[in-house]
Amino acid sequence: MAKTAVRGTFLDFVDDPYKHVGNEEAAARFQADGLLVVEDGVIVDFGAYDDIASKHEGVEITEIRDRIILPGFIDGHIHLPQTRVLGAYGEQLLPWLQKWVFPEEHRYAERSYAEEGTKHFFDNLLASGTTTAQTFTTGNLTCNEVFFEEASRRNMRMIAGLTGIDRHVPDYFANTPEQFYDDSRTLIEKWHGKGRNLYAITPRFGFGASNELLAACQKLKQEFPDLWINTHISENPAEVHGVLALHDDCHDYLGVYEKYGLVGPKFTGGHGVWLSNSEFRRFSESGASVAFCPSSNLYLGSGLFRLGRALDPEHRVLVSYGTDMGGGNRFSLLNTLEDGYKVGMLNNTILDGSILPSDQDLAESERNKLSPLRAFYSLTKGGAEALYIDDLVGSFDIGKEADFVALDWTAGPPATAWHQSLSYSGGPMTLETVSDLLFGVMMVGDERAVDQTWIAGELAYQKA
Ligand code: GUN
Ligand code: ZN
Repeated sequence: MAKTAVRGTFLDFVDDPYKHVGNEEAAARFQADGLLVVEDGVIVDFGAYDDIASKHEGVEITEIRDRIILPGFIDGHIHLPQTRVLGAYGEQLLPWLQKWVFPEEHRYAERSYAEEGTKHFFDNLLASGTTTAQTFTTGNLTCNEVFFEEASRRNMRMIAGLTGIDRHVPDYFANTPEQFYDDSRTLIEKWHGKGRNLYAITPRFGFGASNELLAACQKLKQEFPDLWINTHISENPAEVHGVLALHDDCHDYLGVYEKYGLVGPKFTGGHGVWLSNSEFRRFSESGASVAFCPSSNLYLGSGLFRLGRALDPEHRVLVSYGTDMGGGNRFSLLNTLEDGYKVGMLNNTILDGSILPSDQDLAESERNKLSPLRAFYSLTKGGAEALYIDDLVGSFDIGKEADFVALDWTAGPPATAWHQSLSYSGGPMTLETVSDLLFGVMMVGDERAVDQTWIAGELAYQKA
């Protein structure tokens, strides 16, 4: 494929802004007038236009003006078969699953329904600027085949796997451990590493898994050690109590996954709202990650994730951000950032000590504040690191896959342009201005800000 290039205003990250408190700009790389050169879907050069353009004479350049170009967003936790059922009324996690989720997900066993839902799923991802997602499917083989076929057609870097459940589930939707193992193996052999697809062994959650199902996951991980493992953990108090009642030899929820040898690099536990300090430390020590899903945690009333605690530099946990659509009621990770910011502010009402002076922890409280640079790092390089795909995506480093999103900071509710003109009304663009505009996008805007989404150097979505 011929070399192509995009010229515009670029922001990505070379380090973790949480390591640069008071000087977060040191973690960012900003090109007011940059050039990104792509060949075969991979970045082959990146820098200031004036510095590198002369090396690429004759290359066709697409100019993207008045936009902020970021690496594509990474959703660490989302559910393909909940695309139609997001925004369901009135229940907390366990009754919500029974009433709304299992009946809808069951429909994906039928190929034509799965194809329709999967098409909507990917269209929504692209319109949200999401280029990579770690995705739950169902325990049905057809649903998973349809997913990987469509992901391949879209050429998107996706992580997913057959989503097994055999406890606390209606019979019509239950796997058996044997069928889970066999069908997982079939999918692994067919799809893992094919094109941009990656496979995650996916026990749905501890509350929905027999010992035999967890043992099947362990066996798969032993047989295919380079696979990902994706699940839920400590989302809702009733779920946590239920899991501990099933495993009286375990002190806590993480202990159940540890018992089956699942916890380590490439393990993601979604939510983690009720994790203890000991569990956070064990996540950190093992290299496992949490997917923070604030929109879902608010929507289902699950609770407030202790982001500032997870990010304690002494025991730093890897964190991706997840929409958890349809437990989360939006597809857009911009909404997830908005809710993440609010969760931090709510946590800080406790941590500032104004309710109980003994609860004061100003260092943790500082880490709960979701600045725009922390936020967009978390959707890009931070998410890639948490998912162990930072060798592939998440920044504009040479050698990374050329997935990116162009944001129009003036698009959103009718007064957005006027609002944003408080931060910028023309002239040279600076990193400080871009940060202010991005905070406006995440707190005042929505996915209308996503003007274009590019996959492997090709325009895959253009807002109408
Ligand atoms: N725990 C087990 N399954 C699910 C699910 O589909 N959504 C959420 N939010 N939590 C779960
Ligand atoms: Zn989930």
